[in-house]
Amino acid sequence: MFKAEVPSNIALVKYWGKRDERLQWPANDSLSMTLDVARTVTRARLVDAAEHHLDFGGEKAERHLAYLAAELGQTAKLGVTSSNTFPTACGIASSASGLGALTLAAVAAWSGSATFAELEQKGFSRHRLALLAGKGSGSASRSFAGGYVHWRAGASAGEQDIRQLTEERGRFDLCDLIVVLSAEPKKVSSTEAHRSAWSSPLFAARLAGIPERLQAVRDAVLAHDLERLGPLVEAEALEMHAVMLTSTPKAEYVLPETSRFITWLRAERRRGDAAAFFTLDAGPNPPVLCRPEDADRLQARIQREFPTARIIRDRTGSGPSLAKENLT
Ligand code: PMV
Repeated sequence: MFKAEVPSNIALVKYWGKRDERLQWPANDSLSMTLDVARTVTRARLVDAAEHHLDFGGEKAERHLAYLAAELGQTAKLGVTSSNTFPTACGIASSASGLGALTLAAVAAWSGSATFAELEQKGFSRHRLALLAGKGSGSASRSFAGGYVHWRAGASAGEQDIRQLTEERGRFDLCDLIVVLSAEPKKVSSTEAHRSAWSSPLFAARLAGIPERLQAVRDAVLAHDLERLGPLVEAEALEMHAVMLTSTPKAEYVLPETSRFITWLRAERRRGDAAAFFTLDAGPNPPVLCRPEDADRLQARIQREFPTARIIRDRTGSGPSLAKENLT
């Protein structure tokens, strides 16, 4: 039995829109922080065809497993079980960790590899695993290293490059307070919304500005400068949502409560009370980045102002892990 644990990640520069959907080639470079607490734990083992099962992720996971089998020429069937270390019904996307852990567990079981070194020997570098996982969910490709990860779109789909920016863990650790304002499932899937991004009149301008913003975000991370990083991350999230709202069909993820939260957080900051900055993915629940030493106080203040919100605390993480377990 092979046990893969893959964390989620939060994008500081977002992946939004695809140049080629079939090849999962993103429209732009993105840069993320790997998380620690929010992980998917997936176990896989070889089974007889009749015993094949996959207990999570529905059609998307089945499709991805079928893709991996075809791509790697594997016919052996797998029994796969999976769980998340964070509450699933809380509106937090689990596709990055879920599809990442499925990829790692399946490849480990097929190739009989219990460690990353064994995987590497068999031709499965972390980079290759990241690319395979990204075929299931783009953002999963950034979950194969710790610290901060840069996914370069490249000049063609085959030239994509996913690399740890640097292992800033321990040197620039941040807390990520995920403020769950609504646990309602989203009405528009990210697959559909990626597709409509190209129809937004703002999208071309966004793509033109990405290299400069990416460089600035990179520099701020490497300088360990949260005050410089925060405003860039907020502008980036709002820009992505501006594209979403001006696409046809539009993807409207923010709720009135999300806007109230943003206004409140900015007022707190103006008062000098919190070096804390929000971001947003394809949903209404803002992750808030702050220094670890400020997290207790900030969490208490958020909870007081938004008493019905559920707050999940995460932090900079060290990447995936793999182990072999004996069947009992
Ligand atoms: O990985 P997908 O296809 O679910 O796309 C998600 C993209 C965002 O989460 C909105 C941004 C990102 O870069 O993670």
